Amino acid sequence: MDPLIFVIFGASGDLTERKLIPAIFHLYAHKSLPENFAVLGVSRSNYSDKDFRKKVLESDLFDAKDADQSAIDNFAQRLFYQAIDTGDGTAYGQVKERLTALDAQFSTKGNYIFYLSTPPKLYETIPAYLAEQGLSDQTKGWKRLVIEKPFGYDRTSAFALNKKLLQYFEEDQIYRIDHYLGKETVQNLLVTRFSNGFFEPLWNRNYIQHIEITNAESIGVENRGGYYDQSGALRDMFQNHLLQIVAHVAMEPPITADAKAIRNEKLKLFQSIRPITHKDLEKHTIRGQYIASKIKGTPVNGYRDEQGVPEESKTETFAAIKFFIDNWRWADVPFYVRTGKRLPTKVTEVAITFKSPPHPLFYNETGLQTKKNKLIIRIQPHEGLLLNFGMKVPGQGFRVKDVDMDFHYADLTDAYVPAAYERLLLDSIKGDPTLYARGDSVEAAWTFVDPILDAWKNDPDVKLFGYPAGTWGPKESDLLIANSAINWRNPCKNLSESGGFCEL
Ligand code: BG6
Repeated sequence: MDPLIFVIFGASGDLTERKLIPAIFHLYAHKSLPENFAVLGVSRSNYSDKDFRKKVLESDLFDAKDADQSAIDNFAQRLFYQAIDTGDGTAYGQVKERLTALDAQFSTKGNYIFYLSTPPKLYETIPAYLAEQGLSDQTKGWKRLVIEKPFGYDRTSAFALNKKLLQYFEEDQIYRIDHYLGKETVQNLLVTRFSNGFFEPLWNRNYIQHIEITNAESIGVENRGGYYDQSGALRDMFQNHLLQIVAHVAMEPPITADAKAIRNEKLKLFQSIRPITHKDLEKHTIRGQYIASKIKGTPVNGYRDEQGVPEESKTETFAAIKFFIDNWRWADVPFYVRTGKRLPTKVTEVAITFKSPPHPLFYNETGLQTKKNKLIIRIQPHEGLLLNFGMKVPGQGFRVKDVDMDFHYADLTDAYVPAAYERLLLDSIKGDPTLYARGDSVEAAWTFVDPILDAWKNDPDVKLFGYPAGTWGPKESDLLIANSAINWRNPCKNLSESGGFCEL
């Protein structure tokens, strides 16, 4: 692996402490990093190297449970800090000087990753100033740029941002991070589909009745009200994380498992999602906002009472979208995707419902059995797969009962499962963009989402439904799916289907 310096812009921010430094440390502790590497934090706060080390390594968020102190001490010696005003172009000379010195000290051969963990308004500025200092030039060592979400605020701004970035960096230097793509189970969707002979022949309109994706969070917006109110559930979760899951569930098999082949198929998939027209908006989308309630006896705030949220806010904390994918595989198969804050539990899963057998023969407790098999792919928590199917009840006759067959990731005890950020940062270090979003795909995802956002913002007739905190969203979202004579699968925290134990 090539030596490198990992440069974090926005180093005094929350993400650096919460995710980035712990991820880099774990990679270091597992000996996954090259011998020659260093980390340079860049931010406005006036820290010394020592202050920075103390801040990030002594933080409550720094989780190094199994590590010994000497590993932490050695790691600390590779952390450095440079204070600059990131909005001031003249200050970037100091970054360059510091990098030149560290490059010589650690023999990192001019290989730099610039990680932008800053407010999005700096996503255009920082690359421009880096380029001005020759820091995007790859004549001596490679240079990569990692950009956090949100990538754009809507279609127009995402297009403009891509265009701007491409003035300074090439597309293959740009890594748009989506931490859901770092989750093992999201990657496993591809392996489940394409490494087994028996799923893929059924994975189409002939056998699948509908697909549901639920992303629920039990927390509210916490202290992020200011950010969240400008964003809402559609921008915060749907445009990026959930559409990426949709792509893994629905894309065509790539020719190879390399970045280009996989990302080409994902782009095609995004381009095939049927746009939701204004006329269909009411039948295809529901937005909601949580209102004050009691959860397990404890009163919780409504969204509008949260810190940083305006009293009259119309921002959605829940979104449910029904859509179709117009291609040979998925014609007429409805996809239902919903996400929300302050729902009963934290869970993300994909539920695939297969069509009933064409000719029912047997009875269950309620009558002639028209069994619809289900495959549940659990992204988090309780990661695993569950297949629900009918079996004969022992004894006379042919009565049928639903049973589950399941696999739990936790059973693979000998495998170390890296956190999403660990996996993704290591990929950027290795130069593998497979699990990063490509510019054209991000634009295509915005193209689908933009008309919904536009109508929600500008059409006063589009309703915003309240739902009591701790429930499964507005009851109107049940109608979205019930029109197809089915109901949402409201998942438990644990992976279960046939009326088994359900933990909320
Ligand atoms: C982030 C969103 O991208 O993902 C948050 O901004 C959300 O609002 C978070 O809580 C969810 O991530 P995870 O990994 O906890 O499901």
